[in-house]
Amino acid sequence: MTTLGMKPVAAVTAGGERIGQAIVVALARAGYDVVLHYRTKRPTIETTAELARRAGAEVLLHQGDLSVRAQAEALRETVVRRFQRIDVLVANAGAFEGTPVDHFSDEIFQRMLQDNLFSALWVARSFGVWMRDQGSGSIVALADVAALRPWKGYLAYNIAKAGVVAMVRTLAKELAPAVRVNAVAPGPILFPPGFPVDQQQREIERTLLRRAGAPEHVAEAVLFLCRNDYVTGVVLPVDGGRLLAGDDGY
Ligand SMILES: NC(=O)c1ccc[n+]([C@@H]2O[C@H](COP(=O)([O-])OP(=O)(O)OC[C@H]3O[C@@H](n4cnc5c(N)ncnc54)[C@H](OP(=O)(O)O)[C@@H]3O)[C@@H](O)[C@H]2O)c1
Repeated sequence: MTTLGMKPVAAVTAGGERIGQAIVVALARAGYDVVLHYRTKRPTIETTAELARRAGAEVLLHQGDLSVRAQAEALRETVVRRFQRIDVLVANAGAFEGTPVDHFSDEIFQRMLQDNLFSALWVARSFGVWMRDQGSGSIVALADVAALRPWKGYLAYNIAKAGVVAMVRTLAKELAPAVRVNAVAPGPILFPPGFPVDQQQREIERTLLRRAGAPEHVAEAVLFLCRNDYVTGVVLPVDGGRLLAGDDGY
């Protein structure tokens, strides 16, 4: 709920590129002002900011490593200082790297937990408590179908994304009725740079729809969860049927 005449305000973590960029543009087109967070990639964030401004949004940039709790809280303080309100948080930041069970370093394992779980947890907690005190708000976190159906070879990532789902469901209980908390669980949307083409093809063939999704499919789902105020605590797969299909794709 916004005060008459005021635009709603959304913060998107890692909003500069790929899926984050599509979410920012969709929110801007839907009438939100946007706080655009980034960690390192300043040039891409400028491009996204320009796209959002052209869609009519006021845009504020904020840099930080969100696996550090104080930096996640600093993002929330930036939003409040400028807008005095927060309507939507999209916890989009994440990282994707394999950790096969026979050989992975502590460093990679911890990084997967930091970048996927803690970067969502600290912002969701900080924004969520503030939204609860404000009396309203919506949080959407980016999970992965791997949270529900784990990828072989990705122990740390799977644990982290399952943690995101547990976080979403717990916060939905803790912060209700003022704040709704949901997740989107994408399937194959955009492969990481350098992901082998034959493996990409195999993942696509394991969806029922036999095609990769687009970032805009994820952005649509985020908008739906922001708009529909009778939905909380759900995990919405946007996966072309990957969850339902067996490993042979049927
Ligand atoms: N792409 C897919 O098909 C797919 C499928 C399933 C789930 N997802 C999930 O959807 C979300 C977006 O996916 P994507 O592929 O567009 O992401 P991506 O290209 O992997 O980008 C992730 C972004 O998160 C940022 N980030 C990572 N750790 C961070 C931290 N500790 N603090 C702040 N920022 C951090 C990175 O910033 P820097 O680069 O500056 O470090 C990067 O900009 C992710 O949560 C991902 O797990 C994506």
